[in-house]
Amino acid sequence: MPAEPPTDLTKEDLEEMLQCGVESFTTSPLTTAGENFGSLLLRVDATLLPDHRQVSLAAKLVVTKNLMGRVPPFRDFMRKEMDMYTRLRPAILAVQEEHGIPRDLLLDVIPRCHGARTRRGGGLEPPVDETAAILMENLGASGYRLADRIEGMDLEHAECVVRHLARFQAMFVVLKLKKPHFFKSTVLPTLAVPKHDPPPPGEDRDEKLHTLLTTSLAHVPAVGQHRARIHAAMTAARQFRARPREPFATLAHNDFWTNNVLFSYEGKRIAGLKLIDFQMTSYGSPAADLVGFLYSSTSLAVTGEDRDRLTRLYHEEFTGWLRRFDCDPRPFSYAAFLREVGAEAPAQFARVFHMLRIFCMSKDNPPDINNPAAFQRMQTDNTGLGETYFSKIDRLVREAVQRKWI
Ligand SMILES: Nc1ncnc2c1ncn2[C@@H]1O[C@H](COP(=O)(O)OP(=O)(O)O)[C@@H](O)[C@H]1O
Ligand SMILES: [Mg+2]
Repeated sequence: MPAEPPTDLTKEDLEEMLQCGVESFTTSPLTTAGENFGSLLLRVDATLLPDHRQVSLAAKLVVTKNLMGRVPPFRDFMRKEMDMYTRLRPAILAVQEEHGIPRDLLLDVIPRCHGARTRRGGGLEPPVDETAAILMENLGASGYRLADRIEGMDLEHAECVVRHLARFQAMFVVLKLKKPHFFKSTVLPTLAVPKHDPPPPGEDRDEKLHTLLTTSLAHVPAVGQHRARIHAAMTAARQFRARPREPFATLAHNDFWTNNVLFSYEGKRIAGLKLIDFQMTSYGSPAADLVGFLYSSTSLAVTGEDRDRLTRLYHEEFTGWLRRFDCDPRPFSYAAFLREVGAEAPAQFARVFHMLRIFCMSKDNPPDINNPAAFQRMQTDNTGLGETYFSKIDRLVREAVQRKWI
């Protein structure tokens, strides 16, 4: 059994990671009770020495139990996050500078890191243990906030996400083409997929799926109508192993939904966007994140036609960004991108079908990492799920059938 990770940070912890003196500091929970789904996030407000500078930070700490009550591969998770903040973020800023990207176009979507450690006293050197931590800018303090995870994003927000996601993922294709040595030695190793423990014996996923389709969701029109297809798709997806395919293969985020994107505003206009939570990255298809996002994180007002336009927008931004770095966009045709979408969509269907239950769970009764038994019940019990959830499931199934993904 792993040791219990710390749930708070001391002055020594902060000084070690910030590499300066700390005059005073306070810590508090960064997320509201029950809204931490996979990690422990603390808000740290500190006054630093010698110049009495005040900083507001977000600290990401390890949890050694996930929602299912299992031990997540937290060493790999923390390593991936640290690499993103300490190696990949600087690399994508540097390559933009080298190519003369003007300031107003600079893609700067990763929060700034103020310090990190793999373990107490470990700096950035492996191995990672339960005392690993990352200190990054607290985006909330500069006005960034999440969209509503139950409602999902309207078209304006979704377009903004798609534009930034496309350029962000194109950035790693640029590194692959322009800096192959760096890509091989530094990018690819951070994207290796950790080995997951197999599900514990006795967990009957077929039984759960059967209950979900015949009881909990049977009243949703598209589920009632297409139960056999959904069942087959969900079962097949368990065997699906994402494979990188060239030329599109790039950094796949793999948890790309509402709560991992923050927006800032000038008045009502969106002024900035940041992406967070890189603990599950892999080397995969950009289409996986796009499809997952479109069905998990857009509001019901965003239609199927809008999703087609957003897919085209993604492709235009992706290839447009490649062109800025003098990369030949011809191998990245729209037809080839639609084949990527087709290859990834069935597994994304299964993932979103499953995850919408968590994403849409009532804020009065959110999934609680300290209560895996309640989480297990949530998988088939409809308590805490409103009409929006059932409508989103209906929309997902209808479009998946219409697009022949399932
Ligand atoms: N740098 C940050 N600034 C502000 N809020 C943050 C920051 N990082 C994380 N959060 C908040 O904490 C939540 C959980 O963080 P995240 O890194 O996504 O961890 P998890 O693995 O639990 O999903 C986010 O949804 C967001 O609300
Ligand atoms: Mg998250």
